[in-house]
Amino acid sequence: MKINMAEMYVDDEIKNAAIKVLESKRYVKGQQAKEFENEFSKFVGAKYGITTNSGTSALHIAMLSIGLKRGDEVIVPSHTFIATASPLIHIGAKPVFAEIDEKTYTIDANDVRKKITDKTKAIIPVHLYGHPADMDEIKEIADKYSLKIIEDACQAHGAEYKGKKVGIIGDMAAFSFFPSKNMTVAGDGGIIVTNNEEYATRARALVDQGRLAGKKYEHDFVGFNYRMSELLAAIGRVQLKHLPRWIENRRAAAKIYNELLEGENIVIPFEARWAKHVYHLYVIRCKRRDELKEFLKEKNIATGIHYPIPVHLQPAMKEYGNVKLEITEKFAKEVLSLPMHPQLKKEDVEYVADAIKEWLRK
Ligand SMILES: Cc1ncc(COP(=O)(O)O)c(C=O)c1O
Repeated sequence: MKINMAEMYVDDEIKNAAIKVLESKRYVKGQQAKEFENEFSKFVGAKYGITTNSGTSALHIAMLSIGLKRGDEVIVPSHTFIATASPLIHIGAKPVFAEIDEKTYTIDANDVRKKITDKTKAIIPVHLYGHPADMDEIKEIADKYSLKIIEDACQAHGAEYKGKKVGIIGDMAAFSFFPSKNMTVAGDGGIIVTNNEEYATRARALVDQGRLAGKKYEHDFVGFNYRMSELLAAIGRVQLKHLPRWIENRRAAAKIYNELLEGENIVIPFEARWAKHVYHLYVIRCKRRDELKEFLKEKNIATGIHYPIPVHLQPAMKEYGNVKLEITEKFAKEVLSLPMHPQLKKEDVEYVADAIKEWLRK
């Protein structure tokens, strides 16, 4: 038995969609990206969607679209992937790292409050592992101090906060379609969603060399080429159709894991009563994490660590990392991501849970 962390999904419809684009000979700026934008933004419940060539680009463009600039401070969690913060550095803005909540692993609103200065312009909550951040708390702070919110929803396609899909609660949101995510475009890709027309217009231009819609030779902004190719968009459209079922499969696998691992000497994931967790990752915590990881590897069970080095302790973030984040630093040593994907069978989950129990009783 060999159990992978994630598995890619390819079917005939995906293959045919790709072949159709190849045969159309239209590879960029065509109908596929437009349709994918419409379909994904409709899925989230947002008015506008702008496809990009990665989740990182989506975050970068969202940051520029809400008007972030040199010298601005932006509060972000440190327990996340570096791309939540790295585009800020390119803009000249400063990431201010905040603690996470011990249960949901998402940004701790109380710590956010403590980190606000007169330079703070935005907050970037991350719906980490597929669990939404507590958005009402974040919104209350943002309203009080006139801050903008960008949701980093790169791991949370379809997750819900109080019955609303993540992505429409803040001013803008970024999703990633990196291959291991809950849905992919079979390559790097991303999307920005928003209900704000002005931000959407700016984002659309910035992704396409600063050109406003309909303009070919005039550039109103200094932009980028962050566009998504037609081939990838066509694949994304088919993947999106499967997403609701895949989410339910992930939740079903998580439920079995929870039942089998509850009461053991490890911490299992938490789902707040206001949350719909989409389990991009099923993350447990364990004191002797590295030993358990090694034991599972011997049993042919793949695992991951998200993330072993908090962003504020990354060498690249030295200039911004002068902060003590006790929970974040402790959890980085304890988190372990177990196999999780929509094709995971009950027997696979049982095999993993049995192996963990065997190790715990050693
Ligand atoms: C939380 C988070 N933010 C940002 C990103 C960046 O997305 P991408 O890899 O598509 O650039 C990712 C995914 O890797 C992520 O998990």
